[in-house]
Amino acid sequence: MNQESASLAIEHEADIVRIRPLNVNAVQLTLLAPRLAETAQPGQFVNVRTPYMLRRPIGIMDADPASGQIDLGIRMVGKGTEWLAGRKIGETLSLLGPLGHGFDLSGWKRVITVGGGTGVFPLYFVQQACRRQKIDAIAVCGYPSKQDSILTEEYASCGCQVLFASDAGDMDIAGHAAWALEHLLTDLEPEPETVIMSCGPKVMMQSVAELARRYNLACQVSLEERMACGIGVCLVCTCKTRDSRGQEQMSRCCSEGPVFAAEDVIW
Ligand SMILES: Cc1cc2nc3c(=O)[nH]c(=O)nc-3n(C[C@H](O)[C@H](O)[C@H](O)COP(=O)(O)OP(=O)(O)OC[C@H]3O[C@@H](n4cnc5c(N)ncnc54)[C@H](O)[C@@H]3O)c2cc1C
Ligand code: FES
Repeated sequence: MNQESASLAIEHEADIVRIRPLNVNAVQLTLLAPRLAETAQPGQFVNVRTPYMLRRPIGIMDADPASGQIDLGIRMVGKGTEWLAGRKIGETLSLLGPLGHGFDLSGWKRVITVGGGTGVFPLYFVQQACRRQKIDAIAVCGYPSKQDSILTEEYASCGCQVLFASDAGDMDIAGHAAWALEHLLTDLEPEPETVIMSCGPKVMMQSVAELARRYNLACQVSLEERMACGIGVCLVCTCKTRDSRGQEQMSRCCSEGPVFAAEDVIW
């Protein structure tokens, strides 16, 4: 993916300047990290230190070089993310980053983001980048139910066309995000320079990749493997991909990914 976005990991001591609850299980942390805000690309992540063993990988939700601030969206699933969500304004976090290869926006006229669950966090950064670069953008966001939804107002106000889907059937479309994408693609004006960028549960991204193949559209997916070092050393995060000759190979999700061309991923 985007070779430009692979950069040397630097440790940042970042002060928390804002904390915003997003729903009962998720918060948004805004941190002052000017060097990170300057260099971070959509799809990259930071490895965040907690009191527990191993840093936690968290996608960058937005970065604003002007204010020197970055946003992280945290969904509480275990002790590390619960600790992060319980921080207070003024506390400092140690972040390693920006890490990994992000999404490649260069040359595309239209970007469709398809996010499920916490996948909507890093894709929000993609949408903001599209807005800044004046790329036509559409967002498809899927959640279990309206109650679990996150960033709906933010997506609705970022200038793109938005489609919200929920398994419970209490949002725009009943079903998961890939189902909503199929719905969208059926009626969409053709634009050859269209790319789909997806992040979320693996099974959802696999369906998105299959749809992209059927509609002959480029597709980039952000894989979420368990990670430890986050910088390509420990090999904890390896996943199966195809090289340029179609041969199966092992790739490190943290350093060669997390974003891969969908056709290179061996699901
Ligand atoms: C590239 C990337 C981006 C991510 N972005 C976000 C985000 O923006 N917001 C968010 O809320 N979550 C994100 N996650 C998932 C997040 O890293 C895990 O939910 C978190 O590490 C769980 O830690 P825990 O201590 O709360 O849970 P525990 O289950 O107690 O974690 C135990 C260990 O497993 C690892 N681990 C557990 N689940 C995952 C997972 N899904 N992916 C990688 N490592 C895991 C942890 O690092 C830790 O070492 C991302 C994961 C990856 C790989
Ligand atoms: S997390 Fe260590 S190599 Fe990827």
